[in-house]
Amino acid sequence: MENYENQWIDLAWESINQKVKKTSLIIGSQFPSMTESGIYTYTTDYWRWVTGFWPGLLWLLYEENKYEPFKDIAVACEDKMDEALYEYTNLHHDVGFMWLLTSVKRYKLSGNMESKKRGLIAASHLASRFNIKGNYLRAWNKNGLNEANSLGLSIIDSMMNLPLLYWASEELGDPRFSHIAKAHSDTVLKEFIREDGSVNHMVEFDPYTGEKIKVLSGQGYSTTSAWSRGASWALHGMALAYKYTKEQKYLDCAKKVANFFISQLPEDNVPHWDFRAPRTETIPRDTSAGACAACGLLELSGLVSEEEKHIYEKPARDIVKSLYDNYGNWSKDDEEGLLSGGTFNCPANLGIDISLIYGDYYFVEAISRLKKV
Ligand code: GLY
Repeated sequence: MENYENQWIDLAWESINQKVKKTSLIIGSQFPSMTESGIYTYTTDYWRWVTGFWPGLLWLLYEENKYEPFKDIAVACEDKMDEALYEYTNLHHDVGFMWLLTSVKRYKLSGNMESKKRGLIAASHLASRFNIKGNYLRAWNKNGLNEANSLGLSIIDSMMNLPLLYWASEELGDPRFSHIAKAHSDTVLKEFIREDGSVNHMVEFDPYTGEKIKVLSGQGYSTTSAWSRGASWALHGMALAYKYTKEQKYLDCAKKVANFFISQLPEDNVPHWDFRAPRTETIPRDTSAGACAACGLLELSGLVSEEEKHIYEKPARDIVKSLYDNYGNWSKDDEEGLLSGGTFNCPANLGIDISLIYGDYYFVEAISRLKKV
């Protein structure tokens, strides 16, 4: 690749840094979730799944620019998250998103022992959600359902939390955590990934016998549709499962989902919120799905043979370049998010064409990965 073709990556990194230097003065150690009229709203429930993304984004930038205020905010957020860690009862399957990007990241960068402990406590919680009869990690707690129904729910998003278990096994030299991660991944292979590479969002099991009961549509258009963020969780999560285990079946699955995802991208390479929702003129995009999938594709391109690399790297670049060119809020001071065009929950008509903190996080991760390619 000629250098001039990569100049936009450095420009994107510069644009991100400039914007986040400004927004960090407003956001500080609060927890942004999604924007309303361009302004980030914050969650004060520190147990919500989104809390790790803002400090995680700051760590990604700090890792390269060593800008101390970013580190200070990330550390302050991590300290606040202790309230959720030790309150415990609200914790859920998404503790990987929360503590991998904060405590585990900080521990890897600085060796901080308090952060290591937080990561291990979160991993122990995640491991404790494993249902040995059905071989799945239980999603959520009640989640608006009665307790009995919620005991059997499992969702594709959990694939992204499994690296917390692999890390705990490596750290402790104890394979129990990775046994659980692999058992859950095998259930995902069997019950979530469809023949064509599209993905179910939610599957309900009988928590006592482990039998599969039904597929639920969750955030997708229908039980047989293809929610794009769910596909991106599967793609990226399976690529990471292969990275940690080197088991071929996970690599094959990551490729299958990747091939499906790539085949469904519209002209500007940024996915619609559901690949099988009716293609009306106003069908929303989901830039967060694009950003997360691009990270997964870049991960995958580093795991396959040299001949196959371009199959995944090229579409990843195309997605990220389009996000940067067409959805970036670089010169818009009235928009706090980095990317517009995110969809939070289309079936619930909540958060359409907005910025999502996880979209911003994965965009920064994607640019940071591209800088290293
Ligand atoms: N993990 C929840 C979502 O993707 O919206």
